[in-house]
Amino acid sequence: MPRVAERPLDVRADFPILARDAGARPLVYLDSSSTSQKPQVVIDALSEHLASHNANVHRGVYALAQEADAAYDAARRRVAAFVGGDARTTIFTKNATESINLVAYAWGRANVAAGDAVLITQMEHHANIVPWQVLCRERGAELRYLEVDRRGELSLAALDAELARGDVRMVAFAHVSNVLGTINPVAEMAERIRAAGAVSLVDGAQAVPQMPVELDALGVDFYAWTGHKALGPTGVGVLHGEDGLLEAMEPFLTGGDMIASVDFQSSSWNELPYKFEAGTPPIAEAVGLGAAVEYLSALGMTRVREHERALTAYMLERLAEVPGLRVVGPPEADARGGLASFTIDGIHPHDIAELVDRAGVCIRAGHHCAQPLMRCLGVGATARASVGVYNERSDIDALIDALQAGREVFGL
Ligand SMILES: Cc1ncc(COP(=O)(O)O)c(C=O)c1O
Repeated sequence: MPRVAERPLDVRADFPILARDAGARPLVYLDSSSTSQKPQVVIDALSEHLASHNANVHRGVYALAQEADAAYDAARRRVAAFVGGDARTTIFTKNATESINLVAYAWGRANVAAGDAVLITQMEHHANIVPWQVLCRERGAELRYLEVDRRGELSLAALDAELARGDVRMVAFAHVSNVLGTINPVAEMAERIRAAGAVSLVDGAQAVPQMPVELDALGVDFYAWTGHKALGPTGVGVLHGEDGLLEAMEPFLTGGDMIASVDFQSSSWNELPYKFEAGTPPIAEAVGLGAAVEYLSALGMTRVREHERALTAYMLERLAEVPGLRVVGPPEADARGGLASFTIDGIHPHDIAELVDRAGVCIRAGHHCAQPLMRCLGVGATARASVGVYNERSDIDALIDALQAGREVFGL
């Protein structure tokens, strides 16, 4: 990714929660990989929609309902445009988890059979493991894993070898790992997968919030992400799908809104994308996500990436000062997203998170919904610090000070 010599981001004041203090200390939020904080423009868009334009969508003829329709449609266009997608093939779901389940059920049940294989990787979040386990168990298919190497990366040669076996129908993998930070070579992988006649699904939950994503350039069949990590509200996720695949798929959930007509014994389906949006959708949440992606676009995603890359480089440099601390994943900031997962000899990750919380520093500890990866790494848990557009070097300094103080509490 090209390095840009632009003004650093200075957007802290846009995020009201950062003005509150954690006890007597300012809040240091280093858990954006879990969920992002929200800028005022997103809070305003949500509240403005609920205060002035709230009605159900696709139902009403009155003016207020048409305003709600217009707001929901505009949100879809904005969200699609943000990643170079088409509104028709951009489906609103509840979150990335639901987006992946949609594909595992609606595509998987029709296309994966006994003797077939689904290929995922050892670095996946549970959201991109469990739906495939359930599918494979139900269909008598095999679930196989691409290994993560010692740097925390995948091997294209191993992917080629798996595809050469001729039974792989689906390859599902993360764009950016939520534990290792690894940025996977999506375009190279997708090209190989397509050439082998298999279908690809990319879990972009960690990528979309922090780097430019252009679906056309990636060449994947399905791309899933989640609003709340991308400065948007909770309760809204996104699935982009290849038009022909989505057209051929049966619905995932059924009921209101996803039908063209319903008779006593049978029904026909609505057109895309509504075929996959059963029931009242997350209207206000989609509007909020529309505002979030507009905000990110105005910052410029290349600038967002450079800001987070530079902060991550600084974080890696400073973490190296802490005795007994080991970071997992690729050692260079260029090869990873804006996070660092680590262990410290002699302190359990949960204790690390609790100790730094005493200094107002919020980091995550645990298995990060990636238990198979934890097993590969030979640890039960890690602590994880992750950055967002609103973080500054002083946040990293606060983390390091708190870690050093924590080591003293443990007599290390
Ligand atoms: C890589 C990855 N995939 C999927 C998810 C699931 O996102 P959600 O809980 O919003 O569905 C997460 C969330 O932590 C994630 O980090």
